[in-house]
Amino acid sequence: MGFEKNILCIGAGYVGGPTMAMIARKCPQYKVTVVDIDKEKIKAWNSSNLPIFEPGLDEIVKKSRGKNLYFSTEIEKGIEESQIIFVSVNTPTKTFGQGAGRAADLQYWEKTAREILAYSGSSKVVVEKSTLPVRTASAMERILNENSKGMRFEIVSNPEFLAEGTAIKDLENPDRVLIGSRETPEGIKARKEVVEIYLNWVPKEKIIESNVWSSELSKLTANAFLAQRISSINSISALCEKTEADIDEVAFAIGMDSRIGPKYLKSSVGFGGSCFKKDILNLVYICESYGLDKTARYWESVVDINDWQQNRFVQNMLSNMFNTVAGKKIAIFGFAFKANTGDTRESPAIRVAQGLLDEHAEVVITDPKALENAKKDLKQFKQGVTFEANPYKAAKGAHAVAVLTEWDVYRALDYRRIFKSMVQPAFLFDGRNILDHKKLFETGFNVFAIGKAPLKHFRY
Ligand code: UDX
Ligand code: UDX
Repeated sequence: MGFEKNILCIGAGYVGGPTMAMIARKCPQYKVTVVDIDKEKIKAWNSSNLPIFEPGLDEIVKKSRGKNLYFSTEIEKGIEESQIIFVSVNTPTKTFGQGAGRAADLQYWEKTAREILAYSGSSKVVVEKSTLPVRTASAMERILNENSKGMRFEIVSNPEFLAEGTAIKDLENPDRVLIGSRETPEGIKARKEVVEIYLNWVPKEKIIESNVWSSELSKLTANAFLAQRISSINSISALCEKTEADIDEVAFAIGMDSRIGPKYLKSSVGFGGSCFKKDILNLVYICESYGLDKTARYWESVVDINDWQQNRFVQNMLSNMFNTVAGKKIAIFGFAFKANTGDTRESPAIRVAQGLLDEHAEVVITDPKALENAKKDLKQFKQGVTFEANPYKAAKGAHAVAVLTEWDVYRALDYRRIFKSMVQPAFLFDGRNILDHKKLFETGFNVFAIGKAPLKHFRY
């Protein structure tokens, strides 16, 4: 069967893989190919054991793979035969040179743009899927359009708003799809081609068209605002712990104000994930480069509060466990940066585990999906840390349990059984406020939650 259009995506990661699987599923008239330099990853995409865990992903990949969805390492062929190329290669924070620790590292993006140019025989639309600094499109235009073959490349920005764990739901039923381009006739034509793809399943009124710079900046700003809400509520959680106000009650009360709204107000051990910190630091760097120091400092404080919240959690554990955890077994329930994913990038659990290991605790980590990643994240610690899939075994003989990911399985455990198997006095630190603290206290635990008065059995 001939396809109406060939779509390529370069980068088969958390964003590229699920996004293209959804496009293929909703648009049987297009051939969708996803390429990546990582051979192992492509092998996994072509197997029954996909390289990422995402509820509902297996099903949609299975339905389209081999029909109109292909995973391959043949980047050259993919570029040659496609009219629209999405780029979702990673854009990590730079670790070297100017802007180290803040600016986005665009080397993979630029390399990919040069590959597109080298292997193209005709004009194409190039879609920025990766999150990029505002005005990246202009640099990419220069690279792509300085060619002697007479080809013209239009850059369209189409940022991804999917959150891990709900990627398929977010892709299927997005709040909005943002598509930005130059406001020239050619730019608008390219934009419309991308709009046409989404119109196969997204209602027209949810598709926002804008200029390319607004689109790029909206993505960074959306993530900065979401993270800012979490840091705001977390900053208040510290005050709750001092005053007997309860952070969940405060969040509920303010969230009922329709102007504030209830989402992203869940106080926690801190936010993690590959995007929030990276994107805010990127925003900070851009502001600094335009001399907007006040704006830069404002957004930087969102990251500062998040670092502080994670450190505060470790300090709380330490001070409540009689100022020493050396030689004490501590079970960490959950290592993923949030529930329903195996991803541990920037997970607060990394910092907490490191903090406890630095204090010479014996840390046992359990998680339903993230143990392999946890091993990689903590590989520098040659001793003191073990990994255990079964939470009951992880907690056996422990002095404390720290809940760091809001997995449903942790709500449903038999905490009486856990308590009995632990060293007394037994401590429970709930970094996600998901457990029934009163009941745990009645079971015998000393309970410390985020933004709540501690429940302690000690009289002194
Ligand atoms: C990436 C970006 O990091 C993020 O900024 C953006 O919002 C969406 O795209 P993600 O999909 O989570 O996010 O990244 P990752 O899972 O690391 O996937 C990127 C893939 O690109 C990797 O599989 C990597 O092998 C591939 N890649 C990288 C290439 O195929 N070619 C390259 O030159 C570099
Ligand atoms: C985020 C954005 O939501 C998404 O739109 C963007 O495309 C990529 O970045 P993601 O990082 O996958 O997605 O997860 P998200 O659900 O936003 O959670 C980020 C972190 O914030 C997690 O560690 C989560 O546990 C934490 N969080 C979230 C809180 O601590 N409290 C909340 O109320 C919400």
